[in-house]
Amino acid sequence: MPIHCVYSPEIASLPLNRRLLRRRCETLLHLLGLERAEASVVFLDDAAMAAHNERYRQKQGPTNVLSFPATGGDDGFVVPENELGDVLVSVDTARREATGQHKSLHSRLTELIIHGMLHLAGYDHERSEAEAVRMWEEEKVLFQQLQQPRSVAMPFLAINVDHVATVRQARGGNEPDPVLAASLCELAGADGIVVHLREDGRHIQDRDVRLLRQTVKTRLNLEMANVPEIVDIALEVVPDMITLVPEKRKELTTEGGLDVLANAKKVGKTIAKMRKAGIPVSLFIDPDATQIQAALDAGATYVELHTGRYCEARSMEEQEREFNLIEQTAELAYESGLRVNAGHGLDYRNVHPVAALPFIDELSIGHAVISRAVLVGLENAVREMLAIVRTV
Ligand code: PXP
Repeated sequence: MPIHCVYSPEIASLPLNRRLLRRRCETLLHLLGLERAEASVVFLDDAAMAAHNERYRQKQGPTNVLSFPATGGDDGFVVPENELGDVLVSVDTARREATGQHKSLHSRLTELIIHGMLHLAGYDHERSEAEAVRMWEEEKVLFQQLQQPRSVAMPFLAINVDHVATVRQARGGNEPDPVLAASLCELAGADGIVVHLREDGRHIQDRDVRLLRQTVKTRLNLEMANVPEIVDIALEVVPDMITLVPEKRKELTTEGGLDVLANAKKVGKTIAKMRKAGIPVSLFIDPDATQIQAALDAGATYVELHTGRYCEARSMEEQEREFNLIEQTAELAYESGLRVNAGHGLDYRNVHPVAALPFIDELSIGHAVISRAVLVGLENAVREMLAIVRTV
């Protein structure tokens, strides 16, 4: 086993995705042409890192990463040829840095592992300015290569225009028109349009869906409850995909994901009907491994991971916990062969880490963009969101 990932007991309770970290370490060795080498990556807390920093570098306090290339000792001990050495990473420091740099903990850990491994491979940024630049460039390339599993280079951005229809319905007239709004979103660069045709008809109407089918030039994703009347409309209109969501009469917006496990038979039946009509189906689910398995069993093509709990988190700890759950579930879904979308509650402040997740194909965003559009115009609001989503 070329990579030994070791976790100190002090960090055992942290929500680390050990499978993801191991795979990244192994891939890294491969990318460095060192697949026959052995190395250890040790994840520890600040206290242990500070002790190593003091003992081996005579420096006070913790640091983020330390590398110990395998070298023979004074005692004549000969290091096996394929032994690279050890990388020590402080998860506490990585967490602080991830928060400060607005990235996920696993992205920051990956950067630190790359840095440490490059030292083991002989790079040293302290030797000269030129070497520092060479190492930095190599780090950037390796990070990108490790993030590659996404089937598209950047996540697509689909805009949900339901709330344009909400404003129209407030007066019962024909303004503003969600069909026109969808065209403006596309002109601004959106990759898709989403509408939720609810049974209670509170915003999007049948007429909107039928017109959108004719006007949308990107992709039309019809969100809907799994009920016969709406299933019939979908089969007639043939959107580019549908997303099945749970629907309750009194909810302000979709609350929680679909319980695919509890509704396996009904969901499977609808997916079979859609498949016959050539319509891919996505299931809007909470980030939960059992729902992923149920979605697979039902024959879904996509899952859309519900990001609501991450977006509504009241503390940094809660947000980190929810984010890690999304990250782990997205990876699990992707590796199981599902395509992965995400949405609900995403806004200009919280979207970046989710957009940076390599397993996510598309983000579905409505409320934040339409709210901003009231103040800055729809095209500006879409462009501003695209600028964030496309700088991952
Ligand atoms: N995805 C699904 C399944 C939804 O129901 C909604 C809300 O209509 C969204 C994404 C978009 O959520 P928001 O309007 O909070 O961006």
